[in-house]
Amino acid sequence: MKDNDNITSFDFDSDSDKKTNWRTESIINQDMFLEVLSKIEQLHENNKVKFEIQKIIEVIKNPRKDSLGLLNISSNGDTAKVNKDILLEELNQIADAQTIERAKYYITRLKKSLTEIKTSKINDLNLNRWKEYDDILTESLWVLDKRDKSGAHNAGYWGNFIPQIPNQFLRRYTKQGEWVLDAFLGSGTTLIECKRLGRNGIGVELLPEVVEIANKNISSEEKKFNVKTEVITADSTELNFKQELEKRNIKSVQFLIMHPPYWDIIKFSKNNKDLSNAKSVEEFLNLFGKVVDNTYDILDKGRYFAVVIGDKYSRGEWIPLAFYTMNEVLKRGYILKSTIIKNFEETKGKMNQKELWRYRALVGGFYIFKHEYIFLFKKVKK
Ligand SMILES: C[S@@+](CC[C@H](N)C(=O)[O-])C[C@H]1O[C@@H](n2cnc3c(N)ncnc32)[C@H](O)[C@@H]1O
Repeated sequence: MKDNDNITSFDFDSDSDKKTNWRTESIINQDMFLEVLSKIEQLHENNKVKFEIQKIIEVIKNPRKDSLGLLNISSNGDTAKVNKDILLEELNQIADAQTIERAKYYITRLKKSLTEIKTSKINDLNLNRWKEYDDILTESLWVLDKRDKSGAHNAGYWGNFIPQIPNQFLRRYTKQGEWVLDAFLGSGTTLIECKRLGRNGIGVELLPEVVEIANKNISSEEKKFNVKTEVITADSTELNFKQELEKRNIKSVQFLIMHPPYWDIIKFSKNNKDLSNAKSVEEFLNLFGKVVDNTYDILDKGRYFAVVIGDKYSRGEWIPLAFYTMNEVLKRGYILKSTIIKNFEETKGKMNQKELWRYRALVGGFYIFKHEYIFLFKKVKK
């Protein structure tokens, strides 16, 4: 129970601080709601159950006709914010049940979803209310059409990823207050999401001028939680991550994310430590492998690691850079949990040259890149 208002911990999702949207959400007086459901549970005839449940459905649909006091949030008792459509779906399921036993089973389940929080070891999602997380992706094809530009997020850094990528992973693979590490921080997207979602974050970036951009971006994001964000200017292929963590009194991290250069597709600098300046694909993979080695020990066993990367085209040949990179991680003992295909946003430059690229593809016998990969790994060995 939060002590500054009377919204209970059922009000669990990351959007809980947003104002209630009365078209999609209902705030129920939880005690009253449970009391009414418990009374219905005592009934012996299914018709009576249906009749009483219909009364609740009417109240949810027409809050002004709340004769049962279900939405009376000013009287005693906790309140819970619930998704209106899902609540109506659950109530209709009870009303449509063929037998009283089935109806009671659904009532018990509904009561449980309003009172018990069931989470796993690696995130804060309440599995008793899993239907409400309709924005959490669970399929391997991610078509994300618009970049989240809210808060400190912006598309200013060429080569940054869209914030929805770390957002999805932080919510699924970390709990509030845990530590996240991004070894190729760039403009700070991961740490902005960490700050927003109440996760501690460490980011490593080679280029001081990019660190400056990242720091500016991260500090302009509103601080809603008491979390730490640390940015380190260093070469991730050489850095002693364990020592860096020890200096900061951090034992380990609970999620790793890496969005390295896609070899030389975008040259981030002239610095020879920059992976985008690797002389060959072998050298790129060797350097990337070093970063995977350097970070292996600091990730807790049983936790996850995401790599975001694309392929490249060179001298008439498609180079499966992403799969080569995936293999470097597999060689180091991680297991693969998912391969996600994510659509590629069209850059403005490419958009203007769309016709030209189409012509080139037809002549050259190739396909234009419209996707990149996200590989998700799990550390299963110490
Ligand atoms: C694809 S970008 C990451 C973008 C980031 N996800 C964002 O949203 O801004 C890759 C970053 O890795 C950095 N980088 C390249 N080589 C590095 C190295 N050896 N150690 C640390 N960072 C490196 C580059 O400077 C670049 O900013």
